[in-house]
Amino acid sequence: MTGKLGASLIDVRGRPLRDLRISVTDRCNFRCRYCMPREHFGSAYRYLDRDDLLALGEIERLARLFVSLGVRKIRLTGGEPLLRRGIEEVVQALASIPDVDLAMTTNGVLLPAKADRLAAAGLRRATVSLDSLDDAVFAEVTDTAVPVARVLAGIEAATRAGLTPIKINMVVKNTVNESSVLPMAEHFRGSGHILRFIEYMDVGATNHWQLGEVLPSATVVRMIDARYPLVPIAPSHPGEVATRYRYRDGAGEIGVIGSVTQSFCGTCSRARLSADGKLHTCLFASAGTDLRGLLRAGASDDELLAVIRGLWTAREDRYSELRGRPRTAGNRVEMSYIGG
Ligand code: GTP
Ligand code: 5AD
Ligand code: SF4
Ligand code: SF4
Repeated sequence: MTGKLGASLIDVRGRPLRDLRISVTDRCNFRCRYCMPREHFGSAYRYLDRDDLLALGEIERLARLFVSLGVRKIRLTGGEPLLRRGIEEVVQALASIPDVDLAMTTNGVLLPAKADRLAAAGLRRATVSLDSLDDAVFAEVTDTAVPVARVLAGIEAATRAGLTPIKINMVVKNTVNESSVLPMAEHFRGSGHILRFIEYMDVGATNHWQLGEVLPSATVVRMIDARYPLVPIAPSHPGEVATRYRYRDGAGEIGVIGSVTQSFCGTCSRARLSADGKLHTCLFASAGTDLRGLLRAGASDDELLAVIRGLWTAREDRYSELRGRPRTAGNRVEMSYIGG
């Protein structure tokens, strides 16, 4: 393989390629209203066929190429990544690549069954999505009958397996779960887990996003600070999506991800690979580049590297910075497809 290990690839706006998010399935056992509304993702919805998905060897080959171009963090996403058959083997293959921080974002439901095996396969960290501790609110958000206790059991299982520090992602919609902000903060204070409040985003084309439903991160910080005083802290790494705060009383830290009101495109170092092998250079892209097609047509490593290099060096994406301006053509891809 060519391409010097760690050589930086820089886009038009000076941003290096550092992170790769790999979606391993477009399916999910939840139907979160902001991500996979049931009206659209119902029984008639056509998910990717098994043959459409990148195979284990294809994922590993592409991941190694990306690492040779400077990627240092790989995050497995979905849909729900734990629904992917053989996810442990995917983890094991990626964990065998040197110098890579390997993490996963999951809804947590399958963690009690899988956390130990994932840790043994080499997963380092887990991020678990949880939008409320209240079963009724949780059901309204996720549109499932799964009780909150199942997700909490998943978080415990991941903690015991050492997939720490665990981050908890809470998407906040002011019309739905604003009342859960303080109880969530209270619950996770002092737990060692890092709770992050995410502004509801206009990703995809099915969630009927409205700006009025976004609870600004600044408001979340004010709400928590009034009860449990907070102190801002520096990012843990360049390009981190969350703005961090610690509790003044030493009970740990929280983060806010304000992609609507405080966009962070200026430092965005993330590429995204969909489950069928399309490469996207922005979460809000309307199309990707078909790396699976190239792989299956017999492209060499050098040919694949040239395509990825070409895409990244021409990259100008900054959707969140430009939000509100007239839309470009084409529907944006769905979060469950591109992996968030
Ligand atoms: P860490 O670096 O470990 O903190 O992971 P992460 O925060 O990048 O990953 P995670 O999957 O937990 O993402 C948290 C939230 O931030 C999700 O809602 C993502 O969709 C959102 N997010 C992550 N990267 C981007 C990005 O590049 N652009 C936008 N707009 N949102 C992002
Ligand atoms: N806005 C903000 N975050 C979202 N997520 C899914 N859909 C949205 C949206 N519309 C979050 C999930 C998960 C992460 C990968 O993305 O809750 O934690
Ligand atoms: Fe599934 Fe996560 Fe989307 Fe919810 S946000 S529907 S858990 S992929
Ligand atoms: Fe990166 Fe696009 Fe998100 Fe901006 S909107 S931070 S360019 S993924």
